[in-house]
Amino acid sequence: MRTFPLALALAAAASLVPLGSNAVDFEKEILPLFEAKCIECHKAPYEEGGRTKKPKAGLRMDAAWAISMGSENGAVIVPGKPGDSELYYRVTLPQNDDDFMPPTGKADPLTEKELALFKKWIDGGADFGDWVGNLEGKPKEVTTAVGKPAVSEIQEVYKRLSEGMGAPDPETWKSVTEAGGRVARLSKTSPLLSVDFRLTTENASDDVIGSIDTVSPHIVHLDLSKTAVTDRALSILKESPKLVRLNLSQTGITDAGLTHLKSLNELRYLNLYGSKVTDAGLENLEDLKSLEAVYLWQSKATEAGVKKLRTALPDAKINFK
Ligand code: HEC
Repeated sequence: MRTFPLALALAAAASLVPLGSNAVDFEKEILPLFEAKCIECHKAPYEEGGRTKKPKAGLRMDAAWAISMGSENGAVIVPGKPGDSELYYRVTLPQNDDDFMPPTGKADPLTEKELALFKKWIDGGADFGDWVGNLEGKPKEVTTAVGKPAVSEIQEVYKRLSEGMGAPDPETWKSVTEAGGRVARLSKTSPLLSVDFRLTTENASDDVIGSIDTVSPHIVHLDLSKTAVTDRALSILKESPKLVRLNLSQTGITDAGLTHLKSLNELRYLNLYGSKVTDAGLENLEDLKSLEAVYLWQSKATEAGVKKLRTALPDAKINFK
């Protein structure tokens, strides 16, 4: 029988256990930072002044399962890769960056020492140890496969839509930002884009909106609410077959505009609040089986048209009155 010298045996055992004695203890060393600087805005929904406050960006940091699941835009931690982790990226940006976390003035930024600890924790596999956190709202399907964060259904969708797509160079959307639009990646490494014209709304004419054609195939969220967009301009949407969310609320869009939505097979959210669409226009939506939510409040649609749409799309939530 061979006998190992004790020191060698110990070294071998240690290499099997990546989290040695100098590993970061999440609950003792990281959780207090989150509690002091993040969780106030990133926790389970709660009531305040008669309104439900939801976690910002859909990201909850008050439970291990929630952090693993990520935000409405996808995973925020890639164990072992701080550089690919949105959670780390956001706290290491320059403090004057719009995306910096915690938002300037709302909580103290992480100190150098805290950043180093945070990085070390992700480097070491982002292990939560025995910490579980708040189980409220935990979906049944969260399976905590080791080393692989659980992903929600919408994250799977974004993953599928990203396949085979390279991340666009910010140079390509200069035309949009110069025209007053805002363009953001869904996450640091995502090729998918979110575009809105909230800073320029009424000045956003068809020409301004047309500037998106340089990035059309990458757009998954498009917010044209309150802009001067016309029905005709919506023909540009056929260049964005990956659109998941489209906001046309408080625009002059009519039934003619909705004919351009027919090929949007990934569309899940459509806001037509305060637009001029009628029952006839809603027929264009009947084959969009991926639709999950349609907002028709203060449009020209009637009870009868809404009923017909509900029959065609039984799983969608049609919000009307
Ligand atoms: C005062 C409220 C507030 C605090 C405190 C705060 N955040 Fe946020 N956070 C937001 C808001 C609002 C957004 C959505 C806007 C955006 O994406 O910048 C957001 C978005 C994020 C996102 C992007 C999620 C995604 O995938 O889109 C991450 C990651 C994040 N926060 C991490 C943190 C971390 C880490 C801390 C603590 C160091 C923190 N936040 C503290 C308000 C806050």
